[in-house]
Amino acid sequence: MIISVAKEVKAQERRIALSLETAQKYLAMGFELQVEKGAGELSGIKDEDFAKIGVKIVENAYQGTDVLLKIWAPIEEEFSRIEANTTILAHFDYAFDTDKMSQLQAKNTTCFALNLMPRISRAQSMDILSSQSNLAGYKAVIDAVAELDKAVPLMMTAAGTVAPVRFLILGAGVAGLQAVATAKRLGGIVFASDVRPQVKEQVESLGGRFVDVKTDENLETSGGYAKETSEAYQRKQNEAVKEQLKTTDVLITTALIPNKKAPLLVTKEMLKLMPEGSVAIDLAAESGGNIEGTKNGGTVEISGVKVIGDSQLASKLSASASKLYARNLFNFLSPMYDKATKKFQFNFDDEIVQKTCLFKTGEKND
Ligand code: NAI
Repeated sequence: MIISVAKEVKAQERRIALSLETAQKYLAMGFELQVEKGAGELSGIKDEDFAKIGVKIVENAYQGTDVLLKIWAPIEEEFSRIEANTTILAHFDYAFDTDKMSQLQAKNTTCFALNLMPRISRAQSMDILSSQSNLAGYKAVIDAVAELDKAVPLMMTAAGTVAPVRFLILGAGVAGLQAVATAKRLGGIVFASDVRPQVKEQVESLGGRFVDVKTDENLETSGGYAKETSEAYQRKQNEAVKEQLKTTDVLITTALIPNKKAPLLVTKEMLKLMPEGSVAIDLAAESGGNIEGTKNGGTVEISGVKVIGDSQLASKLSASASKLYARNLFNFLSPMYDKATKKFQFNFDDEIVQKTCLFKTGEKND
């Protein structure tokens, strides 16, 4: 069985779906491995590093492969290169776009969307959303602080005292909680809010302070994700956020609702309340943004606040992100390894395989 790793074609993408560590593991299992020329370069892995351990460097990773490992699902310009019956593992950001999906289906591919991994404890080590969001939350704080003209911790010097920087994190899932932890480590005063009530305890256990929006509504799905909020809730949330923004130097927003536009949490008017020189990072920019006026992939000045829209922060930490992503893929694939045939045998009765599989040799998986 041949496993191939393609060079990512999506703009700004720096990651690769294979690390030297996982390459060695696939080779030890008896697979042939081929990596497209230059695919690891932006993650700090040279072609010769792969070649040294027995990986074949190829011009076209799509050719003659059984399994194709990618960060992002193939896009238009890659479709014609995919060969029939290939098994593809990736983040399918268009998993529900029938037009795009039918082009892959027509080639009898077997596609696994790792972004649809069920949030169960057995699947934690395979969860690409968690591993990448965690890094994104950390990087958001680092990037925001780099833009700030203030020192983060409380500084008591002979010349006087400098007050600590105050952070507000809206949406405290995986990325938000890592942002809380990172901002605390830097010495900031950190506030965070979320619609899911149990987040309060998680924020507080990291040393953050929870901004509570009291409600009787159940805003969490059975799968652990947030639901859309009512107008009444939004009004209350706006008031609580407005109060907080008056003393917030760094605002980080991460709020998402699966398969929906990101909720708008901060308007241009609300940004006016922030102190001079404040910075905001909107991690939900790609899904429409939590901040009004966010530019996805760019920085804009809104009401005196520098607003950075970036939903792909993990890619900027490509060496760490690739390592974790590659391990997520390996952890998903290795239990399917059949020693006798030296092939992957997918067990479609397993919840993890069932929930991530979009097609099984071209057949839609419902
Ligand atoms: P996400 O990326 O879908 O959303 C980010 C955060 O935004 C969430 O905490 C969500 O509650 C919050 N949010 C959504 N709308 C909001 C609004 N209007 N106002 C304020 N906050 C809002 O979430 P993520 O990080 O993917 O986590 C989703 C769930 O999955 C959580 O319950 C998390 O604990 C759980 N999880 C479970 C894992 C496992 O057991 N394998 C692994 C990772 C996460």
